[in-house]
Amino acid sequence: MDMANHGAGLVAKEIKLAFGGLQVLNNVSVSFPPGVITGLIGPNGAGKTSFFNCLTGLYRPNSGDISLDGRALKGVSASRRARLGISRTFQHVALSPELSVAENVQFGLHASRKSGLADALLPLPSAWSDREESRHKAIEALSLVGLSHLADVPAGGVAPGTLRLVELARAMVGRPRVLLLDEPAAGLNSSETKDLVQTLRQIASRELVMVVVEHDMDLIMQICDVINVLNFGTLIAAGTPAEVQANPLVAEVYLGAADD
Ligand SMILES: Nc1ncnc2c1ncn2[C@@H]1O[C@H](COP(=O)(O)OP(=O)(O)OP(=O)(O)O)[C@@H](O)[C@H]1O
Ligand SMILES: [Mg+2]
Repeated sequence: MDMANHGAGLVAKEIKLAFGGLQVLNNVSVSFPPGVITGLIGPNGAGKTSFFNCLTGLYRPNSGDISLDGRALKGVSASRRARLGISRTFQHVALSPELSVAENVQFGLHASRKSGLADALLPLPSAWSDREESRHKAIEALSLVGLSHLADVPAGGVAPGTLRLVELARAMVGRPRVLLLDEPAAGLNSSETKDLVQTLRQIASRELVMVVVEHDMDLIMQICDVINVLNFGTLIAAGTPAEVQANPLVAEVYLGAADD
C-alpha cells in the first residue's frame, strides 16, 4: 500500500463545530499537503482559529475526521498530536516574560516529547546533558529566525514584533511535520513583515505542512501556493492566489466586512 502519497499531510474531512446554537465550522473539508504553503483567510469570526483548535486537538469537532499522513486523529489528545509533529503559533503571543528567550523556545521541545519541562530547566546533574541538548536546539531554532543573539534576554524585555519570531522558533524547535501559524504578522511593522516573509520561505520545505492564517493580504498573496477562504464557518473558495483574488464571492465577503 502506498501510504506515502495516500492522504499525505494533514487532512480534514467534513468538520462541524458548534458552540450552543452557533455553528462555527460547517462541513469544512480541506487538505494540507507537505511542501505546500497553504493560506487560510476569512473575515473576523469566520472560524479560522477554531479550525486550528480542531486540528491541534484543543477543540473537539462535533463531527468529521482529521488525519495526519493517513493516521486518524480522532480521540488523540492535544499533547499527543504535538508529539506526532503538529505545531502551532498563537494569535495572541503566549510566552513567559520572566523566562529567557531560549527557555521559552525550549517549551516547544517539551510539547513535542515526553520528558517534562522541569527536566530541562532545573539544575539536576542527571538532566545536564538533556538540558544542554535542549538549549542547543533552542539556539538552532532561534538562528532559523535570526534571533540567536537574544537567547539569554528575558522575553519580557523583547519588542512585541520580535516576540512573534520567538513564537515561531518555539513552534519550530521540535522539527514539526505541521506548522500552523495564526496571524504571524499581527503587530509587525512593514519591515518586520518583510523579514517574516523571508523567514517563512526559508522554513518551508518539501516535508513541512505549512498553514498560514493571516489578515495581511500582501503576505498571503506573496507566500501561499494555495489559499482557502472561510466565511461564517463555510469554505467558500480555494485556489491559487490569482484564482482567489479573481473570485467575485471572495471580493464580496471582504467588501462586506469592510462596510461594517
Ligand atoms: N470556546 C468558544 N466558545 C464559544 N464560542 C467560540 C469559542 N471559540 C470560538 N467561538 C466563536 O466562534 C466564532 C469563530 O471564532 P474564531 O476565533 O475561530 O474566528 P477567527 O476566524 O479566528 O477570527 P479572527 O480573524 O478575528 O481571529 C466566533 O463567533 C467566536 O466567538
Ligand atoms: Mg483567529
